[in-house]
Amino acid sequence: MSLPYKSYFRPEIDAMQGYVPGEQPKMQKLIKLNTNENPYPPSEKVLQALKELDMKRLRLYPDPLADDLCNLVAEHWGLTRNMVIAANGSDDLLTMVFRAFTSEKLAVSFLDPTYSLYKILAQMQHAKVIKIALEGDEFAMPANILEQAKESNLLIITRPNAPTGNSFAKSTMREICEKFDGVVLIDEAYADFAEDNCIDLVKEYSNVIVSRTFSKSYSLAGMRLGYAVGDARLIDGLYKLKDSYNVDLVAQTAAKAAFADQENLKKNSEAIKATREKMRKALEDMNFTIVPSQANFLFAAPPDGDGEGYFKALRDAAIIVRYFPGERTGKYVRITIGLPEEMEKVLEVTKKRYFS
Ligand SMILES: Cc1ncc(COP(=O)(O)O)c(C=O)c1O
Repeated sequence: MSLPYKSYFRPEIDAMQGYVPGEQPKMQKLIKLNTNENPYPPSEKVLQALKELDMKRLRLYPDPLADDLCNLVAEHWGLTRNMVIAANGSDDLLTMVFRAFTSEKLAVSFLDPTYSLYKILAQMQHAKVIKIALEGDEFAMPANILEQAKESNLLIITRPNAPTGNSFAKSTMREICEKFDGVVLIDEAYADFAEDNCIDLVKEYSNVIVSRTFSKSYSLAGMRLGYAVGDARLIDGLYKLKDSYNVDLVAQTAAKAAFADQENLKKNSEAIKATREKMRKALEDMNFTIVPSQANFLFAAPPDGDGEGYFKALRDAAIIVRYFPGERTGKYVRITIGLPEEMEKVLEVTKKRYFS
């Protein structure tokens, strides 16, 4: 017998669906290319630092400010310490940013398509969403983005964008930061695979925050780590909103070691970019349409435009990629760049589907 139930949730919480993360299958023998994880293990220095961690210290709370890590980040990017905040993954940062800058009265603008969590966070805040539709097969930034976004208090540019993988001209970014009357959050989850980044803009503009993650280029998705940089006054406000101990001791230890090993980061990112370019060419040779990617994945439309069919064919061969239903995105699948041999397997199944 079920107990009588009455909901006391805020109506917007009852009305929302909740974020659905990419599938994390339990099956062992599959090729997992659906959540943009790194195919290479984290730096040896991370493993070493974790081995050396004195387990007795887990009895104590971690440094609430993750000072050592933030100092490393500040030094690396030529910023002051008060321009950096660490977080439990960049999703944690996004939560802080939405709490800080959106509400029933303060709208948010973001690209369409883009990272689907933003919509959920806006719903939690009961904030109006202005979607900036990206244009054409290249998913290009519309020229009138400032006009479209002008009623909002927060504008998120995901650069490179997800799930499309493309980037936007730095000059456009600069213009947006200069002219937008509100906070510009540049989500750089994939910037280590790109030609450039926007971290320097936080030194020039007091309304800009750039967020980063350790989940992709540092191979630490399982650890949950991210950071943001921005004007000291913006970062100071985010500190008011963060959970007291948002980054645990193990994660701080791993992140410090990972960040200190920039050589390993570069080596793995270069390998992934090389595989990405090979994969792009091979798929284009099979008449796929590929959005030019600066991330660790390809947004690829098969020759028949049936993204779902291709997704299922790969799945039948134990290869999991990500499919985003919808009028524009449904033509594509998003394929994370894995090991070269995993990509070979994708190509083998693809060839069989379209050329035999
Ligand atoms: C654009 C974008 N931002 C943020 C995130 C979240 O990353 P994290 O693992 O740091 O929470 C993702 C994860 O896929 C992403 O695609």
